[in-house]
Amino acid sequence: MVACLQGQSASTLPHLEKRGAATQLIVDGKPYLALAGETANTASSSLEYMEPVWPRLVKMNLNTVLVAVAWDWIEPVEGKYDFTLVDGLLAGARKNNLHVMFLWFGSWKNGISSFVPAWVKADQNRFPRVTIKSGQSIEILSTLSEANLAADTRAYTAFMRHLREVDSAQRTVIMIQMQNEVGILGDSRDRSAAGEAAFAKAVPPELTAYLQKNRDRLYPDLLKLWDAAGSKTAGTWQEVFGTGPATDEIFMAWNYARYMEHLTKAGKAEYPLPVFTNTWIVQPEDNGPGDYPSGGPEPLVIDAWKAGAPSIDINAPDIYLQNFADWVARFHRDNNPLFVPESRGDAGGAANAFYAIGQHASIGYSPFGIDNAGRLVALRPAAGAPPPVEIENLPLPKAYAVLSQLAPLILEHQAAGTIAAVLLNEQHATQNIPLGNYTVNVDRRRNRRNPSEVAPLGYGLFLMVGPDEYLVAGSDLQVTFTPTSPGPPIAGLAEVWAGRYVDGKWVPGRKLSGDDILLNYKLAEAAAENQSGSGLMFGPDGPTIQRVKLYRYR
Ligand code: DGJ
Repeated sequence: MVACLQGQSASTLPHLEKRGAATQLIVDGKPYLALAGETANTASSSLEYMEPVWPRLVKMNLNTVLVAVAWDWIEPVEGKYDFTLVDGLLAGARKNNLHVMFLWFGSWKNGISSFVPAWVKADQNRFPRVTIKSGQSIEILSTLSEANLAADTRAYTAFMRHLREVDSAQRTVIMIQMQNEVGILGDSRDRSAAGEAAFAKAVPPELTAYLQKNRDRLYPDLLKLWDAAGSKTAGTWQEVFGTGPATDEIFMAWNYARYMEHLTKAGKAEYPLPVFTNTWIVQPEDNGPGDYPSGGPEPLVIDAWKAGAPSIDINAPDIYLQNFADWVARFHRDNNPLFVPESRGDAGGAANAFYAIGQHASIGYSPFGIDNAGRLVALRPAAGAPPPVEIENLPLPKAYAVLSQLAPLILEHQAAGTIAAVLLNEQHATQNIPLGNYTVNVDRRRNRRNPSEVAPLGYGLFLMVGPDEYLVAGSDLQVTFTPTSPGPPIAGLAEVWAGRYVDGKWVPGRKLSGDDILLNYKLAEAAAENQSGSGLMFGPDGPTIQRVKLYRYR
């Protein structure tokens, strides 16, 4: 148990800690920014496959890798555990100085029970499945079976016990993902006899008590549903939440949450690493729960998860949709720090990483399919596309290089609440961010002679490093400042430096002026808007760092 950790107290193990404005992941006593990537689902089932992958991850400037460990891989024969694979993955990561987050593919992966051992799949009587409206069972283990839960818990706790034994001294593993994208596909709830019986019962008092206690911070759509049904504090699921499919989804969310709470708690009793989930979010074309996994911790039901699974530290999203900024805002809540365990790895991914970390104090970012370098070029690369020659020069590795230079500063400013970020595209063309004594006005990079020629994607993060001083890291942006404190109305650029951080120390490069900062020669026009006509400019070749000191005039 926890008491037998090899000389480690629970506080020296990786854990989450509230530090000022942010909740951060603490690794070896220090806040940690996870510049991560997730390998394809079965990459980690073969150490031979992983052999050439490890050094590529290092070249891509990752410090963390997310790899699956499936129930089937460690317990192919009931009761006989084999951790050769786990030990091999740890050895590969350690040799390359990488941290690991293991994804526990137990009862469910993308809703489906495809990574359970064959002895579980083949014994439907012992390991009951979900029944859908047609009366057929589908390949999804039921949340309502004690046998399913007991078998998964035995395997998962054996895995966590093993991690404690082999890793609590070295602490290569820093977080665990519990299952992957859980929920029912093909129906909105489990129609098995056990499912129908549970649905006819009263909503558990733990859930109604949570709703009452947290009324002011419930996800707005859930509050609306509850209020529309009369804000009842007792009754059946349909009495409390109404008769629509959303009620089925809340019911399933509660059942998944309880199952995963049991697993998480049992795992933490062996080895208390932070735990997160990965959520399949609702897609625009979906026509209700069951089109997307019904019961996964998507925003509508995230409160049911908080009530039902308090041991899960973070309910995290995987986001491939264009409106990344909207989705991270839905998941980053007072009681739910942000981590993005799965998203894109191309230029859009570089932008996402900056935005999540800079604007939402994300613990990190992790594009999917990182073992396939083609994914750093396109969201879905053509099969067999040759890997790009210089992976370190692709947008995400370049963005990670800058983020890793800035990591100590970023973490400090996340805690202080003096950091912001932008993600600009056609939908969100410009942004004005209040930060310290100035509003930072950000636009995508424009052609000075023809301002209607504009870069398609711009991103950056902004640290307030002094009352009149900012550090900006960005790509394809132009940035001006507007004073917000009393005094002269125009902000001029006193000094602008390009540079980099080496071992946490600022190393100035070029001192920027002239063409590097001139946005607009029409000075009367600029003056009429209380602007100098100059600003910071960031080019298209991936993010770079600039520091600026401002002065004011009228
Ligand atoms: C989302 C899942 O979480 C991943 O495991 C993987 O199946 C991807 N989709 C496929 O793009």
